[in-house]
Amino acid sequence: MAGSKLQAPRGTFDVLPADAVRRDRLVGLSAHVLEGAGYAHTETPIFEDTALFARGVGESTDIVQKEMFTFEDKGGRSLTLRPENTAGICRAYIEHGMHKLPQPVKLWSWGPFFRHEAPQAGRYRQFTQLDVEALGSDDPSLDAELIVLLAQILERSGVKARLLLSSLGNADTRAEYGEELRAHLGAHESELSDEVRSRIDTNPLRAFDSDHPGTRSAMEEAPRLIDRLDREDIDHFGEVRALLEQAGCAYELDPTLVRGLDYYTRTVFEFESDDLGAQRGVGGGGRYDGLVEKLGGPATPGVGWAAGVERVLLASQREVEGAYFPMRAYVVVPKAEERPLAFRLVQALRDAGALAEMEQAGRSVKGQMKQADRVDATHVVIAGDSLEVRDMQTGEQHEVASVEDAVRAVTQ
Ligand code: HAM
Repeated sequence: MAGSKLQAPRGTFDVLPADAVRRDRLVGLSAHVLEGAGYAHTETPIFEDTALFARGVGESTDIVQKEMFTFEDKGGRSLTLRPENTAGICRAYIEHGMHKLPQPVKLWSWGPFFRHEAPQAGRYRQFTQLDVEALGSDDPSLDAELIVLLAQILERSGVKARLLLSSLGNADTRAEYGEELRAHLGAHESELSDEVRSRIDTNPLRAFDSDHPGTRSAMEEAPRLIDRLDREDIDHFGEVRALLEQAGCAYELDPTLVRGLDYYTRTVFEFESDDLGAQRGVGGGGRYDGLVEKLGGPATPGVGWAAGVERVLLASQREVEGAYFPMRAYVVVPKAEERPLAFRLVQALRDAGALAEMEQAGRSVKGQMKQADRVDATHVVIAGDSLEVRDMQTGEQHEVASVEDAVRAVTQ
C-alpha cells in the first residue's frame, strides 16, 4: 500500500548499536568459555526440510503443531524456518559422517530461530539462541560439563538463575510410564483442560506443564516418571548429580520438569530467572540419545542445551563480562598537535591485546572523559604535554615516561 507506514514484523526487533554491544559481548564470552572446553563453532542453514522438525522435534509438540514458519519453495518443497537447532545439528552430523570422527563431537552455534508464538516481553517470533551439542557419548560427565558451562556463562553475564534438574529415563521406561499416566489422566478426564484431554494419547507428559487449575490438581497425585527409572538410568542420573555437586553447581530436583520437545531421554534441565516476567526460562536442554537414529543415522547418544540471547540480556543485572578485551583504553587528546602520539599509543595498545580508541570528534577534555565513561574504558591515557594513565575504577592517575610504559600500565 503506497504511503502506509512500514514496520518490523510483529514479534521481531531491530538490533541497534547500543544493544549490539551487549549481544556481541555475550556471544564473545560464550565462544571463549565453550572453545575453552573443546566445543567447535558450527553453522547450519536457517531453513531446513519441514520433515526434519516434524520427525526431530515431534509431531505432537506445540512447536510443530502451531509455531513453525513453513513455506513452499518454487520447486514445491516444504521448508521451515528453524525453530530450534538440535535437529539441524543431528542432520549435519549424519550428513557429514561425523560418527567417524573421534567422539564425542562437541559443537556450538548461535543465530536466529523462529517460532510463531504470541509476542510478549522475552518472547519473540525471531529470537537468537546460543546452542551447544555433544554427540557420540553417553558419559554423564558430558551432561554435567554442559550444565556447568551454561551456569558459568549465565554467572559471567550477570544472570541469577535457578537450575531445575530431572531425568526422563529411556524410551522403554517412558513408553511404560506413558501407559500408566494415560490411565491416570483417563480416570481424571473430566477435570482436565480441553488441550490436555486432546493430547492424552499423543503427549500425556505435557499435562505436567499445564496452568489449568483442574489439570494441576489432577496432576498432583499423578505417578512420577522419576520413580519409574530403571537401574542404569538411576545410576546415570546419580553420576550427573554427584559431578554437579562436586563442581559446586546448586540445583533443585524437579520431577515435573517437562521440556517442550519430544526428543529428550535421561537428563533434562532448565535455568529459570525471577528477573524475567512470565518467560522465566533463560536456557535449557538435556540428553537425546535416540534422536540421531530417529533421523536416519547410526545409534548415537547426544546431549546439549540452548539459551535465549535476548532472555539472558533481559535477566542480566550487570554488565556482561567482556571475553576478549578485559582492558579497554580511551586515549584523551587535549591538543590536536598530540594526535600522532595518541595514534601511536592506540596502535601499541591494540598490539598488546587491549581494546583502544582515541578521541576523534574534537571534544573538550571534559567531553573526552565523558566519552571514555560511555565506552566503558577501564583506563584513560592522556596524551598531552606529559603522558598520564588513569585507572577508571580506582580513579588513580599517574605519569608514565613512555608509550611502552603506558601500554604496560594498561595491560598489567
Ligand atoms: P527450548 O527450551 O525450546 O530448547 O529453547 C531454549 C531457549 O531459547 C529458551 O530457554 C529461551 O531462552 C529461548 N527461547 C525459546 N523460544 C523463545 C522465544 N519465542 N523468544 C525468545 N526466546 C526464546 C531448545 O530449543 C532445545 N533445542 C535446546 C537443546 C539443545 N536441547 C538439547 N540441545
